[in-house]
Amino acid sequence: MAHRWRDNGLRYGLVTRIFHWNMAFIICWQFSGIVVNRLFGRSALTDLLNMTHGELGAAILVLAALRAIWGFYNLRNRPPHEQGALGLAARAGHALLYLLMLAIPALALLRATGSEWGLALFGFEIVPRGNERVEWMVAPANLLHGALAWTLLAMIAGHIAMVLIHRFVWKDEVLRRMAGPAPLPQAAE
Ligand code: HEM
Ligand code: HEM
Repeated sequence: MAHRWRDNGLRYGLVTRIFHWNMAFIICWQFSGIVVNRLFGRSALTDLLNMTHGELGAAILVLAALRAIWGFYNLRNRPPHEQGALGLAARAGHALLYLLMLAIPALALLRATGSEWGLALFGFEIVPRGNERVEWMVAPANLLHGALAWTLLAMIAGHIAMVLIHRFVWKDEVLRRMAGPAPLPQAAE
């Protein structure tokens, strides 16, 4: 049943789907604490959701890197995008999602490494507190971490909107490639 794990030209396989839906969940969790805090103010709930911001961010970085490697490895087996401008936009949109999932946590971790407040992840001290601040490591995230993160949230909203348009307006197979039963592999030929 190895074919269930790999992408097969018509639909994404289990490995791609597990990456996709787990990361969608973790990224929603990551944003929910910040968005709820912005809308309704700080509370025990937002403290709980935001307590793991660094850990979830680091996990997103590792998962996005592994997912990108898996994507390259499977590039020839991925379901094709449409011809023309729409397919190009989908390809560019997905590439930008990857870039943001990598850049946002990478810049934040660089900032933490070069900052005087240090870095602790999963209860382990990775970088001790009290180091001298290294300005070139801190500046990029100060400038871009929030801006890129909000860009990612907007891109995700656009991504979901496109999936809904595919599903309910154009009524095509795009959602079924990533969720639920999909066309059988032998139908590919
Ligand atoms: C993909 C992963 C991540 C996402 C989506 C994300 C998202 C965000 C968002 C939306 C904000 C609020 C920005 C604002 O108030 O305008 C924020 C702030 C912050 N994040 Fe992250 N973050 C991620 C990873 C990390 C990591 C790995 C660290 C550090 C270890 C980190 C540290 C911080 C800090 C210190 C702030 C407050 C200062 C600032 O706004 O730059 N983040 N993050
Ligand atoms: C944090 C949220 C999300 C991110 C970062 C994300 C990212 C991506 C990426 C990068 C791809 C390209 C395939 C890959 O490399 O894995 C993809 C495909 C896809 N996503 Fe998402 N996604 C998110 C949430 C969602 C949600 C909530 C839905 C459903 C409403 C969805 C439905 C799909 C579908 C149907 C595809 C296949 C599109 C195609 O074949 O062209 N995604 N997603």
